[in-house]
Amino acid sequence: MASQVLVAANRGPLSYVLGDDGALESRRGGGGLVSGLSAALAEQPEALWICAALSEADREAVRRGVSEPGVRMLDIDPTIYDDAYNGIANSVLWFTHHVLYDIPREPVFDAEFRRRWESYEAYNRAFAEALAQEAAEGASVLVQDYHLALVPGLLRVLRPDVRIAHFTHTPWAPPHYLRMLPDYARETLVWGMLGADRLGFHTQAWADAFLGCTDLDDAWGRAEPGADRVEHRRYTVWKRRTTHVAVYPLGVDGDELRALAHRPEVDERLAALRTETGGCRTIVRVDRTELSKNIVRGLLAYRELLAGQPEWRERVVHMAFAYPSRQDLAVYRDYTAAVAQLSAQINEEFGTADWTPVHLHVKDDFARSLAAYRLADVALVNPVRDGMNLVAKEIPVVSDAGCAVVLSQGAGAYGELREDALTVNPYDVTQTAKALHRALSMPEAERAERTKRLAAAATALPPARWFAAQLADLRESAQTS
Ligand code: G6P
Repeated sequence: MASQVLVAANRGPLSYVLGDDGALESRRGGGGLVSGLSAALAEQPEALWICAALSEADREAVRRGVSEPGVRMLDIDPTIYDDAYNGIANSVLWFTHHVLYDIPREPVFDAEFRRRWESYEAYNRAFAEALAQEAAEGASVLVQDYHLALVPGLLRVLRPDVRIAHFTHTPWAPPHYLRMLPDYARETLVWGMLGADRLGFHTQAWADAFLGCTDLDDAWGRAEPGADRVEHRRYTVWKRRTTHVAVYPLGVDGDELRALAHRPEVDERLAALRTETGGCRTIVRVDRTELSKNIVRGLLAYRELLAGQPEWRERVVHMAFAYPSRQDLAVYRDYTAAVAQLSAQINEEFGTADWTPVHLHVKDDFARSLAAYRLADVALVNPVRDGMNLVAKEIPVVSDAGCAVVLSQGAGAYGELREDALTVNPYDVTQTAKALHRALSMPEAERAERTKRLAAAATALPPARWFAAQLADLRESAQTS
């Protein structure tokens, strides 16, 4: 049966594992995008979620016709998938939107890039074709993230009747950064996005960056002799169709998160973490081991704190939960190794018989992360650039006794949390060390007050309402255009 509401995202709400007996078992998928969308779709029981088969077990499920209601997995050729996901989405688009290149050496756009780009197009085409097949007349299609930036344009050609929204969960690249891509790739990317009726971003900064990229010649100032200003647009028009650009800052569902954080398994882990801290104050960070999360500078700031404020030695521990991610890419493997090495160095330099300054935990355990959220005296959230960063929003919501949040100006969450967080320039290690000191020294009453206000800001737009607002706006634009 054709669907009225469709979501397309690279990662689906579930994945499969193949047991020794050859049976397929489904597991809930992980990650911020998946948990936000899964919560939102719980209130849209008719919706269909189209996603990619990510593993051999997922592909096997597609081949055997195993599926769950509301989910369709696409079995994309593994080489095409690898080129599109690792070769373009994670190695090029992620780096471009997060401003991560080591410029003297990267990026290099050669024949190999061109080949991968063609795979990215083919992978986007597979999604557009599946959506075109599954969508009812006039359906609403909500496409997610940088993996699928071409889908709106491709789907528009196949199905002019459907309404298309696209949401970007990452930052958007500044115009001068997007301009590094080969012209054909940059133009196709913007063309793909502009196939949508509505584009959503977490913050105005990312929306403005996108708008600045829609006509790069103008963005770079095609100066009219004698003109004294350049119009800055809030929408953009392509082939006489208007694409509306709007901001939907994703928040957390406070009741649900608190319920999750008070399950017996979390209490158990909390007790274990308390023992591990030995009564010290705790600075907590919870991240994928991701280049944009800036874990190394976070450790350098902690080292500077211990060096510059020796009164904290043996009185504080830094619990860094840094879960390895994207290990198919060498640069991520190197970064993971650098985090482990610097943690060990700090322990070597400052540790004593009774005190280990850095506790690095690399085994992903959601219940333990929630326990750490409850325990933290200080949260360190210092990404160089981040679409939103839900950790900064989750910690104040579940904190037991109040938590001071040291927050980067580069996180999307900065816009909503800046008043009550201690904000830092993510590159400024010394400023971050000072903010850690201030956070550790903050009077309890002030910390509790700030935490309350941070939690209120964090829960302003929970996932279900975040999704419903986009769907309502998309339907509205269907009536007016
Ligand atoms: C983070 C980003 C999302 C992105 C996801 C991909 O959660 O905020 O924008 O879609 O990573 O992660 P994956 O593990 O699926 O590559």
